[in-house]
Amino acid sequence: MKRWILYAVTAGAAAGIGMFLTGCGGLQRPSGEAQNGVKKIAVVQLMQHGSLDAANQGFLAGLAQNGFPADKIQVDQQNAQGDQSNLKSIAARFKGDKPDLICAIATPAAQAAANDIHDVPIVGIAITDYVQAKLVQSNEKPGGNVTGASDMNPVNRQIDMALKLMPGAKKVGLLYNSSEVNSEVQGREMKKYAAEKGLTVVEKTVSSVNDIQQAAESMTGQIDFLYVPTDNILASSMPTLLKMTDAARIPVIAGAESMVKDGALASLSVDYYQLGVQAGAMAAKILKGEVQASALPVETQQNLIVVINKKNADLLGIGIPEEIAGKARFE
Ligand code: TRP
Repeated sequence: MKRWILYAVTAGAAAGIGMFLTGCGGLQRPSGEAQNGVKKIAVVQLMQHGSLDAANQGFLAGLAQNGFPADKIQVDQQNAQGDQSNLKSIAARFKGDKPDLICAIATPAAQAAANDIHDVPIVGIAITDYVQAKLVQSNEKPGGNVTGASDMNPVNRQIDMALKLMPGAKKVGLLYNSSEVNSEVQGREMKKYAAEKGLTVVEKTVSSVNDIQQAAESMTGQIDFLYVPTDNILASSMPTLLKMTDAARIPVIAGAESMVKDGALASLSVDYYQLGVQAGAMAAKILKGEVQASALPVETQQNLIVVINKKNADLLGIGIPEEIAGKARFE
């Protein structure tokens, strides 16, 4: 019994600083039920990246707002640094730990957790398409142990915004990693809408960070602007891409706010912090036993923000029409 009390106190203190560090002090983590009503939450984030970091912070805020402040949870934060084999070992660890709930941030992270773990609820955040990623049977009735908040972005409205910024544009580049289902879904949407708008699409895919420069270079002189969806490989290499596109004076319209912070021209983006808050509220419902993940529909978010990189606009000589500038956040 003493060991449990000691454990609960340590866990409480660790949760207080927002993180539970493993491997220190040789304390054994008990499996199964958390002690004294403290819930064990395991978080796996694909990599460090503005949007994903914001989602993570929002998630903890959402939990706190819904009955699970820091002293009621014990959080094991894991970041896979964009590495697939890290995702696998993190999932294996979570499986052994049996937390009360897993939060998975970005599609590959959720897929790795869901592949391995079937008896713990998994709440995803920043997942473009739960159905295409084979995480749920349907958005309305997930059917398994996975649900969460989707960041499917308004591709059509992003292109509309691009056309207001670059009114004469006729040819659009599309660049993404072909092995990310989240990017594929957005790419498909983009091509469909571009066709409706009479735009020609020049599509290039990459399979690793190493391909980005060449793919971008091959579009030089062929496109009026480049569209980049919320692609994890590209997000991790925005500086490489933007060095190239800036030199070639190619405006980049991005799927998410953080890519504009990195230097892309503009985005009409989901608010990732708010998306995290939303997912935190969903997780709280599951933790309270009000609903099971299988019956909790996937949620989306209508809270969109216009983000413009002023420095990049100036570099490219693009004026921001008042209609857009009026509601934009400038990075
Ligand atoms: N939507 C992506 C996914 O499903 C994750 C993501 C969110 C992202 N925001 C981003 C990727 C910004 C790149 C840039 O995995």
